[in-house]
Amino acid sequence: MSITKESDLAGMQKASEAVAYTLKKMTDYAQPGMTTKELDEYGAKLLTEFGAKSAPFTTYGFPGWTCISVNNEFCHGIPSDKRKLMEGDLVNIDVSAELNGFWADNGGSFVLGQDINHHQKLVNASREILIKAINHIKGGVKIADIGYLMESEAKKHGFKVIRNLAGHGIGRGLHEQPDELMNFRNKSDHRRFKKNAVVAIETFISTTSSFAAQLSDGWTMVGNKGGFMAQHEHTIVVTDKAPLILTEMNGIFN
Ligand code: CO
Ligand code: CO
Repeated sequence: MSITKESDLAGMQKASEAVAYTLKKMTDYAQPGMTTKELDEYGAKLLTEFGAKSAPFTTYGFPGWTCISVNNEFCHGIPSDKRKLMEGDLVNIDVSAELNGFWADNGGSFVLGQDINHHQKLVNASREILIKAINHIKGGVKIADIGYLMESEAKKHGFKVIRNLAGHGIGRGLHEQPDELMNFRNKSDHRRFKKNAVVAIETFISTTSSFAAQLSDGWTMVGNKGGFMAQHEHTIVVTDKAPLILTEMNGIFN
């Protein structure tokens, strides 16, 4: 959506606060021994207290309130009472929701407890790349140039990007125009970021794979060549200067 009046901004701020607070609290709440279902139920309780509804459930019928992906799972992991979190797991939580007709989206990867499996370098690279990308976005900047920045930064860190996952416009729905905000330069994409546009910017930084493939459960995405992926995502408003980061309180940059 494009912010055209005060009430649009206020509505987006409320929805963004709900998803950002929920992501932060879920990240803090995650513990070794906890199932991803328990973690999701905690997130559901928080979103419900805001009066917010799960965006993936509402939009696509996703079987959970939030997406929780562990280790080899890249994204869209289904919360399960059979999946127990363990020390050193690479965990991604993605929380998106609708509140009073406004939609916001955010996510973050982190290492649970001690980094015994050496995932922290990947997590740090993804976080730094999102910070850099957001700092370069303003009205008039080419969408493909931000994709180029993300891919070249990933390479500098010794990683790849996933080429079939993307950021997206958001606001009055979960996925809006401009869609396909890729993590690489798409030479045929001549679009530019527009002032006042609301977009969800997300990284997809991987160790081995360049594409994500769906498992037979119909949701969970893993790498076409295996390995691990880290994702960080903020919902932002494009301006003439630095973007307004609506989901800043999720703490993924801390
Ligand atoms: Co998103
Ligand atoms: Co998301």
